[in-house]
Formats: sequence, C-alpha cells, structure tokens
Amino acid sequence: MAVDGFIPFVASGLTVAGMIYIIALLDSQLAVVAIAISPVLYLGARTFNSRLRNQWGDIMHLESSAFSVVQEALSALRVVKAFGQEEREQQRFVRHSSESFSARVRAAWSEGAFDLVIGITTAAGTAAVLFLGIRHVQSGTLTLGELMMVMSYLAQLFGPLASLSEMTARAQRSLASAERAFALLDETHDVVENKNGVPISRASGAVTLQDVCFAYNGDNPVLSDISFAIKPGTRVGIMGMTGGGKSTLVSLLTRFHDPTKGQILLDGVNLRDYKLADLRNQFGIVLQESILFSTSIGENIAYARPGALQHEIMSSSLACRTAMARWWVSVECNYPEDSASGLRSRELF
Ligand SMILES: Nc1ncnc2c1ncn2[C@@H]1O[C@H](COP(=O)(O)OP(=O)(O)OP(=O)(O)O)[C@@H](O)[C@H]1O
Ligand SMILES: [Mg+2]
Repeated sequence: MAVDGFIPFVASGLTVAGMIYIIALLDSQLAVVAIAISPVLYLGARTFNSRLRNQWGDIMHLESSAFSVVQEALSALRVVKAFGQEEREQQRFVRHSSESFSARVRAAWSEGAFDLVIGITTAAGTAAVLFLGIRHVQSGTLTLGELMMVMSYLAQLFGPLASLSEMTARAQRSLASAERAFALLDETHDVVENKNGVPISRASGAVTLQDVCFAYNGDNPVLSDISFAIKPGTRVGIMGMTGGGKSTLVSLLTRFHDPTKGQILLDGVNLRDYKLADLRNQFGIVLQESILFSTSIGENIAYARPGALQHEIMSSSLACRTAMARWWVSVECNYPEDSASGLRSRELF
C-alpha cells in the first residue's frame, strides 16, 4: 500500500501547488483563504495519524496473538483432544479474535472521524472563499467569471488536499506493519559469529567450562559459576531437577546462546572463536522433544547431513535402534509400568 499510495501522493501534491498558483494570479486574498485550511488539515492529520498508527499496531498484535492460539492448538492437537479442551481452545480463539475485531472497529471509527474532520474543514474553506469572493465581485475587484473560475479550481484544489490527508491516514496501516517488521529485523542475534572464526573439522572433544554464568533475562540466573572439564572420549550424564538448567547448559555448547559470564572451551579454544557452522557440526543432538518431519524415516535420520549415503543411514539407524532398545530395557526395569518416563520411552520406541 505504501508503494501504491506514493504516485497518487506526488500527483496530488503537484496538483495542489499548480491550483494555488493559478488562484493567486486571479486573487491573492482568495488564495490565502484557500490555503488557510492546510494547517487545519495538517493538525488533524497529525492528531489522527499517531492515534491510527497506535491502533493499527494494537490490531496487528492482537491478530498475531489470535493466530498463535490456533498455531498452539494445532501443534498440540493430541494434547488438546486427549484432555477434551477443544471447547476451551475455541473460546480462547474467539476471545482473542473478538478483541482484534473490536480494535478494528475502533480504528474504523477513527478513520471515519478523520474523514469527517476533512469534510468539514474543506466545506468551511469553500464557504469562506465563496463569501469573500462575492464581496470582491460586489466591490468590483473580481469579475463573476473569475470567481466562477476560482470556485472550480477550488473544487479541484480541495479534492487533492483531502486525498493527501486521507492517504497519510491510510498509510498508518502500512507504517504499523513496517514498524513491526523492522522491530523484528532489529532484534539482536542470540550469538554473534566471529568473522575470523577458526575452522574445525573434527574436534577431539575436550570440553572445559570456566565460571560459566547464564541468564535468559538479566534478573534470573539459570546457571551460576559452573566450572568443570571433560576429557575426550568421556561419557557424562548431567542430573538435576526439572528447570535446573540441564538443557540450557547443553545449548551453550552448541552456541544457541553465549554465556553471560565465563567461557567454554572446546579443545582449548573458546567456542566464540570457532566458525559457528563448524562448531555445531561437531555435535549430534537428540532433542528432549522428538520431532519427525513429514518425509521418509531415512531423510529424518539424515536430517543434519542431506548428502548422507544409504549405508550410512542404515548403520546410523541400526546404532540408534540398538541404543534405544538398551535404553528401553533399562527404563522398563527401573520405572514402574505407568510412570511418565516408562510411557514416554515406549512411545518413542
Ligand atoms: N527460552 C527461554 N527463555 C526464558 N527462560 C527459559 C528458556 N528456556 C528455559 N528457560 C528457563 O530456564 C530454566 C532452565 O531451563 P532448562 O530447560 O535448561 O531446564 P532443564 O534442567 O533442562 O529442565 P527439564 O528437566 O525440565 O528438561 C527454567 O527455569 C526455564 O523456565
Ligand atoms: Mg531439559
């Protein structure tokens, strides 16, 4: 819309300038009265535009929250159905949609009110020019023909002035969208890649954490002063209560986030000094939540290496099945029949 509105905006601006010039040639006083409505239109546009921009910003925020409800409900459809919460999710969507509907109605009211202000101002301007013009005709400084000409130009002058003002009001919708898009682009990266990062093909696997601290938001540290060293080839399990920061700790290794204090070394080099893609290539990750893309099992297994050969996929699948079978047996032996871990392992298997 910003692009669509640009050419009419320029055309209207040029028409206004031309009309004022011609009216000024016929009667300078009438030209002054005619352009006197411009400040009123300008002030009206300023007042309504900032209000409209905020209203459109709110509308977009409300609409995206309504769509998040849909997205959440669809992505957790089985949970919603399993707990019989379809009605509640529907009500949640209706509530969010109704709020955005009301916000749209409020914005339509504001646009309507602005149109009204423009209409009243241009009508008042026309009446003032007509009144003064008739006076000038009576006093003989302007002929009736000239007044008729001024009035016809005036109609053509106020049209573009009104559409200029309306255009700026309509542009607020696009500006509000642009603001949201730029706010997204302005988001700082979680991690900054070192342009002169060291390449790494195969790390030996020595991991050292030195006084590592991390917080998702400044006030609540998730990890405080964590220090340990893991030798290459060692298997390490991290235990802790739920929400204790295990996943966070692992995500620091792959630089999904950087520590807020301290440093992590891989083979004696700070993770920040490696090329990011090379660093992430050093890790095999099994996510806490299992995710399957809707493609073949083979392509899912080879997701991190699209060019993997058939026999590599097969051997990986075999290794995976063996590991899972072992794990399942150990879980089955250690957890009661209906425990969360027992059920989860069976589902995954
Ligand atoms: N993206 C995030 N933004 C803000 N806080 C987060 C984020 N991810 C995790 N947290 C918070 O950080 C803390 C540690 O979470 P983390 O997922 O690392 O715990 P965990 O030990 O892996 O738990 P679990 O055993 O449940 O997997 C929790 O309080 C969690 O609410
Ligand atoms: Mg976790």
